Amino acid sequence: MAKKVLVSGGAGYIGSHVTVELINAGYEVVVADNMSNCDMTCFEGVKKIVGRDDIPFYQIDCCDYQAVDKLFTEQKIDAVIHFAAFKAVGESVAEPIKYYRNNLVSFLNILEVSQKHGGCNVLFSSSATVYGEAEKLPVTEESPRLPATSPYGNTKQMCEDILRDVVAATAGLSADGEGPVKGIALRYFNPIGAHPSALIGELPRGVPNNLVPFITQTAIGKRECLSIFGNDYPTEDGTCLRDYIDVVDLAKAHVAAVSRMLDGKMKKDYEIFNIGTGRPVSVYELVTAFEKVNGLKLNYKFAPRRPGDVVAIWADTALANDELGWKAERTVEETLASAWAWEKHLAGK
Ligand code: UD1
Repeated sequence: MAKKVLVSGGAGYIGSHVTVELINAGYEVVVADNMSNCDMTCFEGVKKIVGRDDIPFYQIDCCDYQAVDKLFTEQKIDAVIHFAAFKAVGESVAEPIKYYRNNLVSFLNILEVSQKHGGCNVLFSSSATVYGEAEKLPVTEESPRLPATSPYGNTKQMCEDILRDVVAATAGLSADGEGPVKGIALRYFNPIGAHPSALIGELPRGVPNNLVPFITQTAIGKRECLSIFGNDYPTEDGTCLRDYIDVVDLAKAHVAAVSRMLDGKMKKDYEIFNIGTGRPVSVYELVTAFEKVNGLKLNYKFAPRRPGDVVAIWADTALANDELGWKAERTVEETLASAWAWEKHLAGK
């Protein structure tokens, strides 16, 4: 029988792409989402892409222990991919309690229920933000985690540690009653782009914080002008360097990681992988590539640095390449074309 994967936050940006790839790979998927930061657009898109109308959907908040427990009683879950979390860096600085409560409690509930129902494989959606301003680039999984500069970043570090500790504490449990939890943390670099069908993609609420949605919204006319934050950084063109990872490639990394857990291929019960391309791209290069591949001119200006930004970060992807047998494939141009196709789809063009 096909293994069943719970995707918490599965109606959101990354969760919806992961749901598609899991189903394409032959997994059964159960989606849970409280719809706090999305609407049904992406879940409807997922159903169209995979041609299925019967994907179990639970509109629940993972902070509700009883609701998570009920889901695990009704569905025999083999693995969980946990996305359900708040993710706006600036908002987390202004409203830390909201971030700590939501991001920690929901994950604690997932872990407690996983342990209670005979054990489970848990994949946590972490971030390159845990590396902060790294001294040595590219960063490997062994690079030091630096003190987080925002409550959001701190919740990523804390959830990694919670997962590590729960894995260690449950290792001896037999799957008879309470069971062992195994864990993988994937540290994403900068996920961008959309599904090639243009039926699912990023749906930011209000003014986007992230670069690519701001670019596409400027190109479509929803925003007047993109501000490039800082052109006096110590990089070749003065703008920051990031590792932009295509969201479909990223989704495929989740399938590889889940298969590794379910097929008993893990080398340790808790593992960490960087998920990026290994290629640094500057903000200016990204803007220019967007203009070129989509044949348009973007209204942009240089603006002061944004507080909290690191100058450069990109991934050493050797571990993910070797151990997961996964590699980022789409070019940044293809990805930027997909982001633009999605924005046009949203505008009905
Ligand atoms: C941020 C978060 C990261 C999170 C990621 C999600 C931090 C410090 N950053 O990464 O944890 O996982 O979002 O994708 O925690 N930029 C502009 N103009 C804009 C917007 C952005 O020039 O309007 C620049 C930024 O200064 C930065 C680059 O574009 O150099 C990327 O910014 P962004 O998309 O916000 O991602 P990060 O800050 O790298």
